[in-house]
Amino acid sequence: MVEAGRRFSARAGALRSSKVRELLKWIGRDVISLGGGVPDPASFPMEEIKRIILDVLEERGAAALQYAPTEGLDELRGEIARFMSRRGVRAREENVLVTSGSQEALELIARVFIDPGDPVLSDNPTYLGAIQAFAVYGPRMVGVPMDEAGLRVDAMEAALKRLGGEGSRAKLAYLIPTCQNPTGRTMSVERRRAVLELAEEHDFLVVEDDPYSYFYLDGVEPPSLKSMDGSGRVIYVSTVSKILAPGLRLGWVVADEEIVEKLAIAKQGVTLQSPTLSMYVLLEALKRGLVDRQLPKLKEIYRVRRDAMLEALETYMPEGVRWTRPSGGMFVWLEAPERVDMDALLPLALTKYKVAYVPGSAFHVDGGGQNTARLSFSYPPLDAMREGVARLAKLIAEHAAARAAPAGG
Ligand SMILES: Cc1ncc(COP(=O)(O)O)c(C=O)c1O
Repeated sequence: MVEAGRRFSARAGALRSSKVRELLKWIGRDVISLGGGVPDPASFPMEEIKRIILDVLEERGAAALQYAPTEGLDELRGEIARFMSRRGVRAREENVLVTSGSQEALELIARVFIDPGDPVLSDNPTYLGAIQAFAVYGPRMVGVPMDEAGLRVDAMEAALKRLGGEGSRAKLAYLIPTCQNPTGRTMSVERRRAVLELAEEHDFLVVEDDPYSYFYLDGVEPPSLKSMDGSGRVIYVSTVSKILAPGLRLGWVVADEEIVEKLAIAKQGVTLQSPTLSMYVLLEALKRGLVDRQLPKLKEIYRVRRDAMLEALETYMPEGVRWTRPSGGMFVWLEAPERVDMDALLPLALTKYKVAYVPGSAFHVDGGGQNTARLSFSYPPLDAMREGVARLAKLIAEHAAARAAPAGG
């Protein structure tokens, strides 16, 4: 036995398997999953992608299977810049870095910007894949609480003051302003403005992670932070995962050229480049208007799903349980009564009640949220989703009643 574990680096000590991944391993056929944020396969434009792949191989020949530049194909960077401009973000080819999913963008940003101990502000709760990616670089995560209008700017200001009082300052803020993962909440325009003002005043960078704004469901989508960014402080990250297909493994960063260049150097050591065939597919999908045609379809699919989950929650959840009304995206955030420990209940949920969810503590940067859970409405068939919510409601009701009973009862 080589006892490899003994030789793992100190950095590897920060590598912990995510609760979502652990959970997915458990899911058998009879367990209804309200767990992972997996897109509805009905949203994949199968026929168009098939056509595009054949055309790409025919027209581009070997280039479609060859190595490509680290930053991404020039043509694709230009097309993404035009796509972003249509979404209110002024960008040129040089401002775009194509990544292997937006997850890689988060890894690269962490590599390039985070030194051990650097304060990093974030929504609390926040995307657990970001917590995981950042953790390796040893930041001091400073969670900022949210309310219905998103991140609480007063709390962010207080956190910045506290840091200042300690002679420290935030390096960056990681935010998901629109249809947030895990809460589904969207930050108001006033708060967006205020966050950017704080970033100016306290001189930190803002990472805007934006996979879900494409299916914002409550009317006119608020402007992205990047579109309001006058000084190049915002590093914008997005992905094709929810608008075309996650299996293409493509995302992108839009940022000032200096940042893009540094991230590209970091990418050389991580993936060298994003998948060439996928890049050509995305290029064609953008050029042929497929991505633009997808957006109204996605809104329809996820509106029906969101409304079905909200209705099921309304029907089945016992008194004392609260949940968000997401403005889009894929998730509802659930808060059970304080005494209900959703972490501790998970094994029972999986084995006896046959329903999966992600315990909310996984999304907390401060170890809180034991009574919370993230429910995904993106994937299960609607009937199964309703049944899943009913099972979860039963579990919570029974447990809340048991915990409320006097000792010995
Ligand atoms: C907020 C957020 N950021 C990043 C990602 C990573 O997505 P991908 O790597 O598929 O682009 C996800 C995936 O669910 C997400 O919810």
